[in-house]
Amino acid sequence: MKQDDPLVVFTPSGRRGRVPSGTSVLDAARRLGVDLDSVCGGRGICSKCQISLGTGSFPKHGITVTKEALSAKNAVEQRYDEKRGLPPARRLGCQARILADAVIDVPPESQIHRQVVRKDAELRAIEMDPATRLCLVDVAEPDLQAPSGDLERLNSALAAQWQIGPARCPLPVLARLQATLRRGDWQVTVALHRAPDGLEILDIWPGFFEGPLYGLAIDIGSTTIAGHLTDLSTGTVIASSGRMNPQIRFGEDLMSRVSHAMLTPGGAAEMTAALHAGLDRLAAEIATEAGVAPRQIVETVLVGNPVMHHLALGLDPVELGQAPFALASSGALWLAAGDLGIGAINPEARAYLLPLIAGHVGADAAAVALSEAPEEADELTLIVDVGTNAEILLGDRSGVLACSSPTGPAFEGAQISAGQRAAPGAIERVRIDPATKEPRFKVIGCELWSDDPDFAEAVGPAGVTGICGSGIIEAVAEMRLAGLVDMSGLIGSAAQTGSERCRPEGRTQSYLLHDGSSAGGPVIAVTQTDIRAIQLAKAALYAGARLLMDRRGVDRVERVVLAGAFGAHISPLHAMVLGMIPDVPLDRVRSAGNAAGTGARIALCSVAARRKIEEVVRRIEKVETATEPRFQEHFVAANALPHASDPFPELARQRHLPEVVFNADGGGNRRRRRPR
Ligand code: FES
Repeated sequence: MKQDDPLVVFTPSGRRGRVPSGTSVLDAARRLGVDLDSVCGGRGICSKCQISLGTGSFPKHGITVTKEALSAKNAVEQRYDEKRGLPPARRLGCQARILADAVIDVPPESQIHRQVVRKDAELRAIEMDPATRLCLVDVAEPDLQAPSGDLERLNSALAAQWQIGPARCPLPVLARLQATLRRGDWQVTVALHRAPDGLEILDIWPGFFEGPLYGLAIDIGSTTIAGHLTDLSTGTVIASSGRMNPQIRFGEDLMSRVSHAMLTPGGAAEMTAALHAGLDRLAAEIATEAGVAPRQIVETVLVGNPVMHHLALGLDPVELGQAPFALASSGALWLAAGDLGIGAINPEARAYLLPLIAGHVGADAAAVALSEAPEEADELTLIVDVGTNAEILLGDRSGVLACSSPTGPAFEGAQISAGQRAAPGAIERVRIDPATKEPRFKVIGCELWSDDPDFAEAVGPAGVTGICGSGIIEAVAEMRLAGLVDMSGLIGSAAQTGSERCRPEGRTQSYLLHDGSSAGGPVIAVTQTDIRAIQLAKAALYAGARLLMDRRGVDRVERVVLAGAFGAHISPLHAMVLGMIPDVPLDRVRSAGNAAGTGARIALCSVAARRKIEEVVRRIEKVETATEPRFQEHFVAANALPHASDPFPELARQRHLPEVVFNADGGGNRRRRRPR
């Protein structure tokens, strides 16, 4: 490098340096450590290396740039422009040569490690760093004088043209190698996968194969499995799909699945086979829906709770059913997707499973941690992933704690008298007028509230079918706000509450939400048993959070994040009226949507993110609720609505909770003020 060599400044990175006149922009970028993409290795075929030249005076950089700073388009670039078209002012970085001082802009789509903005998170982006990428190579033809194998010459080409390798070649790919090389006239595109133990060739195409490659992020829940098909070069989700977890026929909740494994010979294998079939169908469906060739799906990332994780791997989950809840392995796993029964994608596709945090806190919680990054939070943040089991994280920059709490399936509408899954016809929103005690509600699939004159017509012939998890939470919270339920969770009688909707049911009361019987529909009421089920679930959730707060030595948290598909539908106010979550200002409660799915997608797009979460999980402190003596104490106190002893001042600022007390048999008109 000489002092009179052209000075080149790359934006937005700001990297600068002098390069000999005539150096290609791609070579200059590589020398200066600038992130500029290439699949064809500078042959003017892939157009991944597009850049644009900034002209004029750049006082900040101390240079003036003319349009002669780059060489004119050569024949290769002109041919590309004629055939495929280059956007105005764009040049191919591998063909354009630097002749004088230049400011060169690398647009986001030409950066390998581009930042992908996440719509679902506050100010965080995914930095693309996928484990699998395409490389075009020219392989030397065989030579009688210097005999060597085609794979060896392919590896020499990778070393010479890409400075990488050698790469392993699985037998099925090796079986196609010779024909592919000859068909491509000794030019091939390989899909190279960066595993911790070296490079692997996942697939090979003759000539230049443009891609893109795809990955499938899969969140295995106990109830549903969801997949997000993601473009591995841009991070864009191109299709999402979900289906019921076929294991549901072996039991609704996790413990019943573990029992099935314990009590039925071959039970675990049966559940593994069902899950594998479900995963395979999901992959096939999503590829068809997106119109993507299965061969182009080369990676999967799976997350799930420990029981789902073990069953997906064909590991018997019995140890997870009893203390000390030993995991077969807690570390991250790099496997073949075929090992998980996923055959509907590229046969050599790889699978990555995030690490597990503890015997009850799974890879789904690790994915939530990857998505929400509590270890980077300035404020003490409580993250709750509500499902059949609540997985809870509490932390900030000084450390993160984790536990899981057995909430059971009540929050998902199970064990509720009129409960159902979140599906069209299910009541999902409830409001009760505190004066008249009359309810109104919304059902999934209909925009109108039930008191709208057009509601019956809009809801259609299927009508109102039941109540889902978010609906029952709102119903119980609204009943508490309207003075229909007291702090202990008892429903008052008609005489006590002044509402004819409160009806005796045995020795207890129920509250009528909707009577569809005249049209042959269901009668939907909130019963005392329903409220007890919600109390047990929410007390388990709160007690888990409280246990982590104890360990941290605090009585308050600064922020609450509700994760999980269900978390997206819980109203923060109603969650707090029930005392599901600790008291914080309502604007400090945020829904993170499907954070586990997002975490899986981040791991799919970035090897660096995989390394990061493996490191974060190693540092997370696990708290075991099942053996923690104070759990029971917290659980009992958290049965009250919102809580027997913890104050809820922020909630009190928002809403007044009527201080009613109803006696156990629901009779008489003994409404009185709660003793202070
Ligand atoms: S690197 Fe492929 S066209 Fe420039």
